[in-house]
Amino acid sequence: MVKGVCILGSTGSVGRNTCRVIQSLADRFRVIGLTAGGNLRVLNRQIHQLQPKIVSVRDLKLARSLRERLRMEGYRPRVKIVFGSGGMSEAATHPQVDTVVSASHGVTGLEATYRAVESGKSVALANKETLVVAGELITRLARKTKSDILPVDSEHNAIHQCLRAGRREEVRNLILTASGGPFLKTSRRALERIRPEQALRHPTWKMGGRITLDSATLMNKGFEVIEAHWLFRMPSEAIQVLIHPQSIVHSMVEFKDGSLIAQMGVADMKLPIRYALNYPDRLSINGVAAKGASQLLSWEQMKRLDFELPDLRRFPCLGLAREALESGGSMPCALNAADEVAVEAFLKRRVKFTDIPRLIQRVLRRTSVARLRSLADVWDCDREARAYARESLLNDFT
Ligand SMILES: NC(=O)c1ccc[n+]([C@@H]2O[C@H](COP(=O)([O-])OP(=O)(O)OC[C@H]3O[C@@H](n4cnc5c(N)ncnc54)[C@H](OP(=O)(O)O)[C@@H]3O)[C@@H](O)[C@H]2O)c1
Repeated sequence: MVKGVCILGSTGSVGRNTCRVIQSLADRFRVIGLTAGGNLRVLNRQIHQLQPKIVSVRDLKLARSLRERLRMEGYRPRVKIVFGSGGMSEAATHPQVDTVVSASHGVTGLEATYRAVESGKSVALANKETLVVAGELITRLARKTKSDILPVDSEHNAIHQCLRAGRREEVRNLILTASGGPFLKTSRRALERIRPEQALRHPTWKMGGRITLDSATLMNKGFEVIEAHWLFRMPSEAIQVLIHPQSIVHSMVEFKDGSLIAQMGVADMKLPIRYALNYPDRLSINGVAAKGASQLLSWEQMKRLDFELPDLRRFPCLGLAREALESGGSMPCALNAADEVAVEAFLKRRVKFTDIPRLIQRVLRRTSVARLRSLADVWDCDREARAYARESLLNDFT
């Protein structure tokens, strides 16, 4: 049976890779919905190639210009063009959609992902913020509607694969690996002077701007600890982080008998995307490799595998994320909102790289722990934390 797919964030880094995977597997998948922000050039090309039935963009103005552009080009197939969060939800819950690939920016795809889970669709989850801000809500809903959530994020995808080696009650620890980002060897003093363009250069992965910056502060790894907690129902103390600069071991699971099962592969998001879409099948890699790039690991690449513990004094964001997870309730949601404001301020050169954790810590101190029982609670918490963060930016960082 050919499965219908909706890609939230189709014009982004994960979204474009998903389109490539689906194009190489036309006998298995058909794109029904695409959603994007404002990159009409890429979206337009995807519409011509994949002929979706519904497309959503950020706002009404963009929806009008896309409609006009397609009309001028004489595009014939029927396509419904919608916009905003409501439009994304409509695309994600389209009756012909079986699987939603959630890869939109920040919390922009949260409502649509929630609606997809609510209507029992399978979700291939790349977006980290979904489980960071609403982990309890989404996973409880998924259990109720029997919606499968399959991780696309390479570390969680690796753990999902490693877990196939044993039973849940046999697991001792999950070990998330981290490349360490571009400042692995940078001194604390030098971190004070980091410029945005340096932080936006990731040593091993090509990704969108926010995740690249979060990788440089290690907040990305903190988000992943929170995600792993919700995906695999493991407590914070059983989720460890190891720096592994080669990004070959994507993560590991330690079982009670002392066996350590690792998943290794090249650093290419098409691999975890294809795994999540086809699970429980494993397909041959033919047809999806980028020109000149192998999707098989060579022995040469595996000659040297280094591991070390992260330095929490130089990278306090990882510790802040763990604290937020352990405090629970609204804290991870506030953490994400504060991080987004802090990262934006750094990119606009309003604060230093080392101010990012300082600002987040201030917001967490002002946030009270409350249970988030609905999406409305999540939005309230998100708004409040952003307001604290902006206020603190004005008062404490000028
Ligand atoms: N990149 C990776 O390798 C990777 C790996 C693991 C997890 N992730 C996670 O996956 C998510 C996406 O990452 P990415 O690197 O693919 O990000 P990205 O390249 O920045 O792409 C983000 C996507 O979201 C869309 N978008 C932005 N604002 C929007 C809005 N207001 N309304 C609707 N759509 C909007 C963008 O559309 P336009 O471009 O059209 O504006 C784009 O399609 C993040 O949560 C990230 O942490 C990424």
